[in-house]
Amino acid sequence: MFDTLKPQPADSILHLMQMFRDDPRPVKVDLGVGVYKDAEGRTPVMRAVREAERLIWERQETKVYTAMPGDPMFLAAMQRLILGAEGGAAIATPGGTGAVRQALELVRMMNPDATIWLSNPTWPNHPAIIDYLGLRRAEYRYFNAATGGLDLEGMLEDLTRVRPGDVVLLHGCCHNPTGANPSLMQWAEVARILTGAGALALIDLAYQGFGDGLEEDALPTRFLVQRLPEVLVAASCSKNFGIYRERTGVLLAAGGDPARVQGNLAALNRLSISFPPDHGARVVSTILTDPALGADWRAELEDIRTGMIGLREGLAMALRDACRTDRFGFVAEHRGMFSRLGLSPEQAERVRVEHGIYMLGDSRINVAGLSHANIPVVAAAIAAVM
Ligand code: LMR
Repeated sequence: MFDTLKPQPADSILHLMQMFRDDPRPVKVDLGVGVYKDAEGRTPVMRAVREAERLIWERQETKVYTAMPGDPMFLAAMQRLILGAEGGAAIATPGGTGAVRQALELVRMMNPDATIWLSNPTWPNHPAIIDYLGLRRAEYRYFNAATGGLDLEGMLEDLTRVRPGDVVLLHGCCHNPTGANPSLMQWAEVARILTGAGALALIDLAYQGFGDGLEEDALPTRFLVQRLPEVLVAASCSKNFGIYRERTGVLLAAGGDPARVQGNLAALNRLSISFPPDHGARVVSTILTDPALGADWRAELEDIRTGMIGLREGLAMALRDACRTDRFGFVAEHRGMFSRLGLSPEQAERVRVEHGIYMLGDSRINVAGLSHANIPVVAAAIAAVM
């Protein structure tokens, strides 16, 4: 039977990661997968995470199952972090991808005929999971390649085609892959159209704290939850707590009958994983319920965020000098881990093959892969292929 299986296409992000590892050149720069790196290229365990793990090790007396929705302390702490208050339905999930998957499973239970609207471009896992689940999808315009900014007009125009019962997938902050984000005023326009359409918003929130600040990055989500009758939020702790491999995420649902939604979300966990992973969730709730640990985590996250803004400014300036053009000014304006540079796939390949600079084929770069030491090398390589 195994020979009935078709070979699976390589995942573009993970394939690039492997190519980077296999590249023997001494000078190479990884701007691929969305993982934070410090100036030395390391992805450190955050101070508060290390301390929380020590406390858990000292205090934890059992490893028996948690509840199907996950540990209530974690769920409440994540509701406060993301929504600013407790309430609504929630389940812990294996990472942000697990939350996106459970959200789309829920959509399929509610309305198998729903069309899921995705920004063009979006994170490759979004269309992949939708197709796997046999749901329909459509695209809305998002990015203006000429300016490197948001195509608000195109986005709003496309969203007027959304029908009742459809789902619109939105990136809550730090849009992956472009790095171009709507302002709060622009979010208000989006909310107005979705309210009129009677659509469900599904917000993917993987980078809270990487954009304009922990609270600021939650504002669009809170804003949509206040204005729309029903919202799903798939959130990840991989990046802002730096606990990628612990697979820690949450799916929140606002609106409807909370008990009924909660029962269905818990059943979805039972059907796929029975109980969600607990270690990362316990680290997160330990940090978020301990004032000193919470303050230290916020301080370290803020250093990471401001460091990345400094790298953005450095790269924008270096590109202006190396390429003698202002066209890359948007790199300093974008927020979060990513920017789409607007190179052709051929140019992105040439910077990799000829200069050892690894970026995705759509020229998405992970800003955290830059350092003030490698920025001149990266800028020179980009100038060389233009
Ligand atoms: C990315 O976009 O690089 C990350 O979200 C990692 C992943 O799972 O693709």
